[in-house]
Amino acid sequence: MTSWRNHLDIEFRRFSEVGSTNDIARQWAESSDASCGVVWSEKQTAGRGRRGNSWVCPRGEGIAATYWLRPTFPRTSWPQISLVAALALCEVLESEWSLHASIKWPNDVWIRGKKLAGVLVEVAGDDVIVGIGMNVNNQDFPDLIRDSATSILLELGQTIDRKFLLEALVSHLHQYLLQMDGNWSDLLQRVRGRCPLSGRHVRLTSQGVMREVEVMGIGDRGELWVLSDGQPEALWQADEVRPLL
Ligand code: BTN
Repeated sequence: MTSWRNHLDIEFRRFSEVGSTNDIARQWAESSDASCGVVWSEKQTAGRGRRGNSWVCPRGEGIAATYWLRPTFPRTSWPQISLVAALALCEVLESEWSLHASIKWPNDVWIRGKKLAGVLVEVAGDDVIVGIGMNVNNQDFPDLIRDSATSILLELGQTIDRKFLLEALVSHLHQYLLQMDGNWSDLLQRVRGRCPLSGRHVRLTSQGVMREVEVMGIGDRGELWVLSDGQPEALWQADEVRPLL
């Protein structure tokens, strides 16, 4: 393991192989007096996605990393952290590489309708564990996801420095989360501006039930408002939200 601190004094720990960076981050958080840290691994043998999916990140190509923090803002705002993480990634891609990305509620980053990254937020006591999987220098994907996934390399036609990207993302996310208390309405406006689902009909799977609804937009606390059989309904979590053509 190698470790270093960035210009904000956040400690990064980089591993060659772990089970899941979220688990390593959780153990670190539980035994630490620090308020945050970052775990990055070249390979995960048990990388987790949402809905019990696994997350595969080929060595040297993607980024599998976890930023953990002990928030000073209220727990009622913790569900918004995954949207803020997705927003921070979109903004870094735009400012550093002029790539326009959007946020597919609740936790994906898309480019041109394809998945570039996913966020998995877990809570451990007073700590929040923000796992991020990003397709960065991936040249290709397995058959199952080839049509639905993309990478920065495929979008940009050039490889990029993964350490630079991760440090930029963590800095941006960290500063946003420090300002969560007073700044949420500004962040929400930015999130809403990157929501490609608004006004679209989607197929929604929630608690094992599939239905088609129309997306109205993202509500004041990060929830998704939909019209289901003509009735407005707020969703706080959904297994899957897939736009219909
Ligand atoms: C998803 O889109 O389903 C979320 C994927 C999150 C994957 C990342 S990779 C780093 C961190 N460690 C894990 O085990 N999962 C997250």
